Order: sequence, then structure tokens, then C-alpha cells
Amino acid sequence: MKNIVILISGGGSNMRAIVQAAKKERWRERFGAQVAAVISNRPNCAGLAFAQSEGISTAVVDHKAYAKDGRLYVEGADPRATFDAALAAAVLAQRPALLVLAGFMRILGADFVRQFEGRMLNIHPSLLPAFPGLHTHQRALDAGCRFAGATVHQVVPELDAGPILDQAAVPVMVDDTETELAARVLTQEHLLYPKAIERFLSGLV
Ligand code: GRF
Repeated sequence: MKNIVILISGGGSNMRAIVQAAKKERWRERFGAQVAAVISNRPNCAGLAFAQSEGISTAVVDHKAYAKDGRLYVEGADPRATFDAALAAAVLAQRPALLVLAGFMRILGADFVRQFEGRMLNIHPSLLPAFPGLHTHQRALDAGCRFAGATVHQVVPELDAGPILDQAAVPVMVDDTETELAARVLTQEHLLYPKAIERFLSGLV
């Protein structure tokens, strides 16, 4: 069985879309793949409750616990590196064929990424290479873009770079607010990500 592990930080709407697609599109039968676990860096986030309701294993690797005042802080060690190592261990425990970042809001270090490069995907809410980083929708509005969208890409050590698997574009309306544009893009993300994962699972990537 090809295990898919999904990393989330909050509501996990992309994770929900992937879980639902895995069932509806019969990934187990068609690709021998399943969503084996959902892991969050934020305890008690809504996405964890959804995954548990679907009978999917969940885990929390709380980045705050590894910070300088956290209960798992290692004196003299880089808190980010300690967190990344703990997260990598939690992911590897699931024997992943594919690691999916879905609304995961931590920047992962190169050492972490290199352990999964080639089997690690992310969805970014812009038409990369435009607007890597944060506040992508407001930046697109400020730049007067006529189109915005989302990108599914392979994760490499450089932030929001890596080979693009697929993209979805949406029109930017004249009076769009950031919230309205974000919602229009998110709707497309929920269609784009499962399809991109299917292509990865079918060996087309
Ligand atoms: C969304 O803005 C999405 O574009 C980005 O992360 C945010 C939350 O996604 N990937 P989700 O609802 O947690 O999947």
C-alpha cells in the first residue's frame, strides 16, 4: 500500500478534499494508495478532528513545544532543526510514499526536505513563480493582475520553488477583495490538488 501522509496547520480544507477524493476516486483500488495519516503542528486544529472522524491516524508535532520556552526545547540546539527532526520521525513512522503539505504553515529546513524530495508536494496560492511567500492574493491585487490562482509543485529546499505539477487560474474581478479572491482560488485548489496527486500516484510525474 502506498501511504500518503498529509501535513496541516489549521482547517485543512485541502486535506479534506484529498481525503474525499481518495474515497470517491477509489485510490486504494486504482493506485494501491491510501491517506495513512494527518499530522499537524498545531494541537486541536479542526483538520485533526475531521481526519479522526474519517478513521485516519493523526499526530501532533507542536512547534511551540520545541521553542526556547517549550517543554521539548533542547539547550543549545536550533529549535527549528529540533522540530523538523521530530516531524520527520513522525512522518517516517508512517512509511510514506508521498508527503503532502496542505495548508501547512511552517517553513521546513533543507535537511527535512532532502529526506522526502521527489515524493513531497505543496500547494501554493499563486501562479508560481509569481508571488512566492505570503499574502499572495493581496499582492496579486496590488499588482493589478487580471488572473490569480494556485500551483501544485514538488517541494525543494528553496521556498515555493520546485517542479510544477499543475496550476489553476481564476479571473481577478475589478472590485475583488483579498477575501473574495482567496475564496475563488481555494475552490480551485480543492479540485487541483487531488488531480495532481492522482497524476503523481499514476507515475505520470
Ligand atoms: C489556503 O490559503 C491555501 O491556499 C494554502 O493554505 C491555506 C489554508 O489551506 N495552501 P487549508 O484550508 O488549510 O487547506
